[in-house]
Amino acid sequence: MSRHLITSALPYINGVKHLGNLVGSMLPADVYSRFLRAQGHEVLFVCATDEHGTPAELAARDAGQGVAEFCAEQHEVQKALGERFGLSWDWFGRTSRPQNHIYTNHMARRLRDEGYLDIRSTEQIYSAQDGRFLPDRYVVGTCPNCGYERARGDQCENCGKQLDPTDLIEPRSAISGSTDLEVRESSHIFLRQSALADRIRAWVDTKDDWPSLTRAIAYKWLDEGLEDRGITRDLDWGIPVDPVDFPEAAGKVWYVWFDAPIGYLGAVQEWVDAGSPGSSVDIDDPDSAFNRWWRTDHGADDVHYTQFMGKDNVPFHTLSFPATLIGSGEDWKLVDTLKSFNWLTYYGGKFSTSEHRGVFMSDALELLPADYWRWYLLSNAPESDDSSFTWELFSTAVNKELVGTLGNFVNRTLTQVTRHFDGVIPQGGEPDQIEADLQVQISERLAFFVEKMEHLEYRKAATALRSIWSTGNVYLETREPWKTVKEDKERTACTLRHALELLVISSIASEPFIPTAARAMREVVPSLDWDSFALDKSLAHMSKLTPGDRIESIPLLFNKVAPEQLDEWKTRFGGNPAETQ
Ligand code: MF3
Ligand code: ZN
Repeated sequence: MSRHLITSALPYINGVKHLGNLVGSMLPADVYSRFLRAQGHEVLFVCATDEHGTPAELAARDAGQGVAEFCAEQHEVQKALGERFGLSWDWFGRTSRPQNHIYTNHMARRLRDEGYLDIRSTEQIYSAQDGRFLPDRYVVGTCPNCGYERARGDQCENCGKQLDPTDLIEPRSAISGSTDLEVRESSHIFLRQSALADRIRAWVDTKDDWPSLTRAIAYKWLDEGLEDRGITRDLDWGIPVDPVDFPEAAGKVWYVWFDAPIGYLGAVQEWVDAGSPGSSVDIDDPDSAFNRWWRTDHGADDVHYTQFMGKDNVPFHTLSFPATLIGSGEDWKLVDTLKSFNWLTYYGGKFSTSEHRGVFMSDALELLPADYWRWYLLSNAPESDDSSFTWELFSTAVNKELVGTLGNFVNRTLTQVTRHFDGVIPQGGEPDQIEADLQVQISERLAFFVEKMEHLEYRKAATALRSIWSTGNVYLETREPWKTVKEDKERTACTLRHALELLVISSIASEPFIPTAARAMREVVPSLDWDSFALDKSLAHMSKLTPGDRIESIPLLFNKVAPEQLDEWKTRFGGNPAETQ
């Protein structure tokens, strides 16, 4: 048994996430957490809403709400949606909570003491009409790189280039639209990433097991030269800079990308505090439950830490956040395995909130339960390349795989056992070569599945799972219990007993991907001690059931997507953008 800390990139607070966000971070983290728990490992899986920064403020304005109120409400919305999608967080926190304030200011103090912070005079855009500084997305204008006219002050959405508000051509205020902007001096705290570059590179060099996408992104940034980064902002919303520690930056807040990843620590502290109310943060306590997960000098040396994220997040997790942790001079747990994803597109184009294109977490659950989406998204995960969501692919995955393969196998097995054996696990009958071959095949397929899951290869793991499901169907078609029952009841008993064993194996193996259906399958044999089987190679042995025990019928696991539904959804969500142009 080993110990696993698992985090997914913290979803930004500014609105409900779309399916691309889900499959690129939260969902695979959930599947891996469930897989490891099913193997008997100790898992701590945390997430949180990322609540600071200008996008949160702008979204709150659009919603006509104060930003604190907006964030509180949106946090509940995202939490409820995540739970309905079956995301099995041990804790879902908020970066705006006091725990994150404590660790963010702690890290800043440590970085200062280690000599990695300095104060610099910078030029910021000030709006006379708004009476305030306009950092990051508060300024919009023309991108100096590609000419896009609605580029934001932190990044151009069109070409992806990282920007500074002062880079924009014809800048205007995102609040008032005012072009009466001036450049004013303002002092900010900088993290000297350049001084940390060698230490970060040396650490990245040890990560030769990282996927090539992750390594390539990290080295690109290192080779281009890590730039020092302003980590404070002239804003009201955010984690206030401690005025005692940093009187020069009193009244400012930490930059969202500084406090957000520290939110991983905050979330674990929230989880600890929820379990033991009244406890207080003690970073040096060697026995604290928090340090057991985060401090390698205080019990976290045996923790394996896996992070999940979309590829745009990789630089922050391979470079900036490690810069904070390494630069602190303390022994913080650094990421071991970093799984990153490409983009899920909607018919090859971008999911777009403003243009109402694509499917968002809330829409999806209105149409069908979580397992349908989980299966489709994971089996088509954008791993080695971008992948495209289409309604056609979605309905094929549901109809062929969930309904036609798994659902059909379970349904046929239960019907036969109920009809011919009174709903009791059949006894008798001698297995022969066909069952021996079946055992070999299921062992191989399960071993392949486990190996792919251990390597976080979701598409291949889904392929393996599909092959486990179809093993059952092929076996039934070979044995034809509906025919043999007329002349050979013993033979039929043996067949259906083996089919039920396959059902048990399928349920346990499928749980990380489709937890609701897998749980429903457990109801078939309520007398079985399901939790006693680990999801490893040993699961393949077909000797779990006790002949004579009762089985229960269960409702159909999945229903087909009808052609009319498909048409309706395509119209409602915008089908192929290429067709509608
Ligand atoms: N909110 C960011 C995004 O949506 C991700 C933050 S990850 C964190 O891209 F680690 F910084 F929190
Ligand atoms: Zn651009």
